[in-house]
Amino acid sequence: MLRILENIQLKPYNTFGISAIARELVEIRSKEDAVELVKSGQFKGKLHLVLGGGSNVLFTADFDGLVINILNKGIHRVEETEDTVLVEAAAGEVWHDLVMWTVNHGLGGLENLSLIPGSVGAGPVQNIGAYGVELKDCFHSLNAIDLVSGNDRAFSKEECRFGYRDSIFKRELKGRMLIYSVTFRLSKVPMLKLGYGAIKQELEAMSVNKPTIADVSKAVCSIRISKLPDPAVTGNAGSFFKNPVVSAGKAEDLKKQYPEIPVYPQPDGTVKLAAGWLIEHCGWKGYRESDAGIHPKQALVLVNYGNASGLDIISLAGKIQNSVLEKFGVRLEMEVNVA
Ligand code: EPU
Repeated sequence: MLRILENIQLKPYNTFGISAIARELVEIRSKEDAVELVKSGQFKGKLHLVLGGGSNVLFTADFDGLVINILNKGIHRVEETEDTVLVEAAAGEVWHDLVMWTVNHGLGGLENLSLIPGSVGAGPVQNIGAYGVELKDCFHSLNAIDLVSGNDRAFSKEECRFGYRDSIFKRELKGRMLIYSVTFRLSKVPMLKLGYGAIKQELEAMSVNKPTIADVSKAVCSIRISKLPDPAVTGNAGSFFKNPVVSAGKAEDLKKQYPEIPVYPQPDGTVKLAAGWLIEHCGWKGYRESDAGIHPKQALVLVNYGNASGLDIISLAGKIQNSVLEKFGVRLEMEVNVA
């Protein structure tokens, strides 16, 4: 029997550590719980929010609806070929626990995504990425329950329409699917991706010349720990903005004016810029306004030093967006989901 909890403080449920009260909250510990919730009609017509690890959400007000907290667990092998293994993980697993499981089983593919905060089920929604790898690179399929029809649905990679920190679950199907498991195709033969500069340097610093999957994971963890704030200590949701994509002409103009600006040409001819660099060069790095601030080591990460409200964070974000637009003529789009 599912229990609907009332008037729940969401501060422990979001890595930003923002206070907000949910009118109702239900914990989903199995697929059966999810089916029961849909069948009960409990939330029909009610505002609802599917919450995993709460690592990419910013609450700007109390939530006058039902928060569905996904907590199911389990990781197992589904099938094997000579070179690859399909691994299915429950949506409620902690993302980094899954990465460690794959590393400990010698399965390659997710090691560059070590230590990303959040749950497995939230991974495909954002198409999480780091150090030259995105979740979509190893994604096989996922299973979800349609919260409107109650039907089970499987999604292939194509059906998820993955983009840069983007998927169909942030667009047409926003709030409609309760993802309960995700399946990855992992490699028995390690194909390490070390192209991202900092990884090689970190491996050198570790005196590793023939890296294993575990070494790469360790290197990524230590880079992240050195640059990014630990949400258990300082509230944050990782990168607050997406890295903006501009036309080649615009990038060329900026390069003329700021020769040291980092630019990442994309396969379609557009150019990705580093939002962290733009924000730092507007003078925001380390800035603090009561308990809302910009991390002193990574300008793309907004932080809550304790009692900032979601509106404090949004107000600071707006000032950053305005100054980047004014100085560089570039619009920054939020990566974090505002609730
Ligand atoms: N930079 C600065 N100042 C800063 C931050 C960055 O000049 O304060 C420069 C760096 O020197 C570098 C460039 O900007 O030249 C890129 O910085 P970095 O390698 O730290 O990565 P990022 O573009 O800021 C992205 C992802 C991160 C991911 C890292 C590493 C986005 C929005 N963010 O950040 O993902 O961990 O690359 O791959 O794409 C997340 O999405 O939450 C996240 C943390």
